Amino acid sequence: MEISDREFTAQAKEMINQLSIVLRNGHFHNIENDAVLEAIIKLLDIINPYIKTEGFLRIDLRGDFFYVNEMRIRYPLEYLLNFDFITNEFRKRDLGSVSFLLPLEIKDMKIFLDAFIKAVQSGMPFDEMEEWISDITHIKIDKLKKITQDEELDKRQIVKKTYFGAVSFAKGIMKSISAGEKINIKKAKRIVESMVDALLSEEQLLIGMTSIKDYDDYTYHHSVNVSILSIAIGQRLGLKRKHITAIGIAALFHDIGKTEIPKEILNKPSELNAGEWEIMREHPFRGAISILRLKGIDKAAIMNAIVSFQHHINYDLSGYPILQQPMDLTFYSRIISIADRYDAMTASRVYKTMPMSPAKTLGFMMEKSGIDLDPVLLKFFVNMVGSYPVGTLVLLDTGEMGLVYEGNHIMSDRPRVMIIADSQGDTGNGFVVDLADRDSSGGFVRSVVKTLDAQEYGLSLAEYLL
Ligand SMILES: [Fe+2]
Ligand SMILES: [Fe+2]
Repeated sequence: MEISDREFTAQAKEMINQLSIVLRNGHFHNIENDAVLEAIIKLLDIINPYIKTEGFLRIDLRGDFFYVNEMRIRYPLEYLLNFDFITNEFRKRDLGSVSFLLPLEIKDMKIFLDAFIKAVQSGMPFDEMEEWISDITHIKIDKLKKITQDEELDKRQIVKKTYFGAVSFAKGIMKSISAGEKINIKKAKRIVESMVDALLSEEQLLIGMTSIKDYDDYTYHHSVNVSILSIAIGQRLGLKRKHITAIGIAALFHDIGKTEIPKEILNKPSELNAGEWEIMREHPFRGAISILRLKGIDKAAIMNAIVSFQHHINYDLSGYPILQQPMDLTFYSRIISIADRYDAMTASRVYKTMPMSPAKTLGFMMEKSGIDLDPVLLKFFVNMVGSYPVGTLVLLDTGEMGLVYEGNHIMSDRPRVMIIADSQGDTGNGFVVDLADRDSSGGFVRSVVKTLDAQEYGLSLAEYLL
């Protein structure tokens, strides 16, 4: 019987969760214990029907994600602890994948479990484990693949191309609009789709690119950054792809009204005066009008226009434009205003020499939770950017200093970090380390001691990414 993707992902989460329960029980009890047996029976009930129809079941750990028969499984909040446990246990054994080629019996699973548990005390856990399960021909394991420095650079190249393609497109449309020319909505859709794709495979790296805040081309970078962050929130919320794309497009256009604000005000090197603010505050309304003027009025255009109109209206309906009567803020607007706020506060602007650090910005935004910003969506956002947002400067227990390069979904305090100075203060070539890596005794190789202010040291991740 064919099952839908949605049903399959739900089942796959159950499989990984139950496998984790088996491993955990095996860890804490004797393998002959009833709790272990019960967990194994439940696991077999879940996976065997699947193996029968599909012919095999393969569970891979790649980076922070599990893949079940090549389908990436988003980590479910309700199973967070079990996912965290199984990820760590796989890593400790250098285990990258397990394949079950035939329906399993209890005795097969017991042999597997026994090997899995014993392996951790061994100096070569993977090889020993492979040896111990070699009698069961229908269970195969593979070694964890480390991402090499070269693959890392390739990945970075692709993400960079996507990002800068989007920025130059944003620049192009804003210039066309200023000149009263027609713009290519289809192309906007393609650009956003490429960002959605990049986000699916390299979420954290693309979010990392949003730490690039160009001083001169601020508005274009900002539009793309807000689009990326909004797409990421949509994805975290598990929205359908077409909705995620729609949010990304609306975000890309949210500040389009700024094309009608005089350059002297937009790029004024000092704080705006009251009269200038008045004009600046017209950009949401002007944006809405110009979106509706662009290409006839259809549902998508109306949605984009509403987002432009609402993006500076707070959750409690304060902010601007000032409303004559209350209105509902759309779901898209509430998402985009969170992304907008975050990007604007972490940016360096012409009149603002010191951008706020990502961590400080999150703290500030949390203070406005339920007042300026939607509290539930904000929680998702904070969880997504992590305890150490990309771009945060950290001091490690090895004495090294680094910039947070890529978040870790499961252990948010163990991101990947780009080392920019060793314990002697010598600057290196910016190699990337994973704080989730453990040494042979199972302890972490490196941990964060404290965060430092990147601005104070005149450092930014953007410089290293480029
Ligand atoms: Fe704005
Ligand atoms: Fe904005």
